[in-house]
Amino acid sequence: MSRVVDEGKGIEELRGRAEIQEAANILKRGGLVAFPTETVYGLGAIATSADAVSSIYKAKGRPSDNPLIIHLGAVEQVGDWVESIPPIAAELARRFWPGPLTMVFRHRGNLASNVTAGLPTVAVRVPDHPLAQALLLETGIPVAAPSANRSGRPSPTEALHVWDDLRGRVALILDGGATGYGLESTVVDVTGEVPVLLRPGGVTLEQLQAAVGTVEVDPGLVRDDESPRSPGMKYRHYAPEGDVWLVRKPWAEVKEALQREISRQQGQGHRVGLLVTEEHSDLVTADVIVRCGWRRDPLSVARGLYHALREFDEQQVDVIFAETFPEEGIYRSVMNRLAKAAAGKTLDLRK
Ligand code: TXA
Ligand code: MG
Repeated sequence: MSRVVDEGKGIEELRGRAEIQEAANILKRGGLVAFPTETVYGLGAIATSADAVSSIYKAKGRPSDNPLIIHLGAVEQVGDWVESIPPIAAELARRFWPGPLTMVFRHRGNLASNVTAGLPTVAVRVPDHPLAQALLLETGIPVAAPSANRSGRPSPTEALHVWDDLRGRVALILDGGATGYGLESTVVDVTGEVPVLLRPGGVTLEQLQAAVGTVEVDPGLVRDDESPRSPGMKYRHYAPEGDVWLVRKPWAEVKEALQREISRQQGQGHRVGLLVTEEHSDLVTADVIVRCGWRRDPLSVARGLYHALREFDEQQVDVIFAETFPEEGIYRSVMNRLAKAAAGKTLDLRK
């Protein structure tokens, strides 16, 4: 059920491989295939079959009002499925496709309606991963693919995470090793005058602004009293089973207070975990310390985040204290996922 495919040679060579052929055939028959992308692993089904798409929702346990992203093997295919490509979208495509950017367009009505949860718009992405590209080109039909995790679990950044969550529910898992970004794609709505950031991800807000000037940020992303325009952002997501608390102060300054809080929690019988960067890993002690990249290397933190969150479940941790990061660049995306994992809870260390 799981096949390891090394990506040594070019896309054309990969397309001919038995594993890719098998995966494409499963998809074309309406089955489910999990595959690596440069962001996270996706759980794919052809986007033109309502039955195939509904098996994605079923396998994940995903609410059916949360629409899916369609994945295409080449930028030239996008026009077949969307009403028009506005100039700003064309510029974003030129800059960031293939890559970790998803754009929301008005669709042409030729996709299964459960892909878009009945919306007039569709989210489209052209991933930059040799296995994903080979599979998509070989399939020749748009592939709807959410992250290949059970709904509510952290997204999978390794084939083993997919196996843990979905074994028995997916016909084939293509194993391409650990993913490059570790966080999902950036979602941008390009249906209006000004592009709107709906979900921060692999492409940063700063990169978008440098490419096309003004980019609005969906108020639902930054304010609790606004509901997000990307339906998926309203769900509690990316969450380990333990209770996550954000530690928003510099750890070197609050380490005594934090250590006291850890001891207090342990005194109540809780197993306490820390989610920290290498630089912070020796400041306090706890039951389980999960190191997640280097603070001075934001991409290393992004890459390690979901693996780290899963680690707390394996270690059966009850309470997790997490380091926080400045809201800029890729750290904005990391903070978005961490805030969701914590359901917004911040540890108040003055008490
Ligand atoms: O990196 C990624 O984007 C991964 C890989 C597999 O490509 N996929 C992924 O899919 O993260 P998913 O389903 O976990 O997240 C899709 C996000 C959700 O927040 C969803 O609400 C939003 O995109 N979305 C999809 N269609 C939309 C639409 N028509 N309008 C607004 N938001 C939409
Ligand atoms: Mg997801």
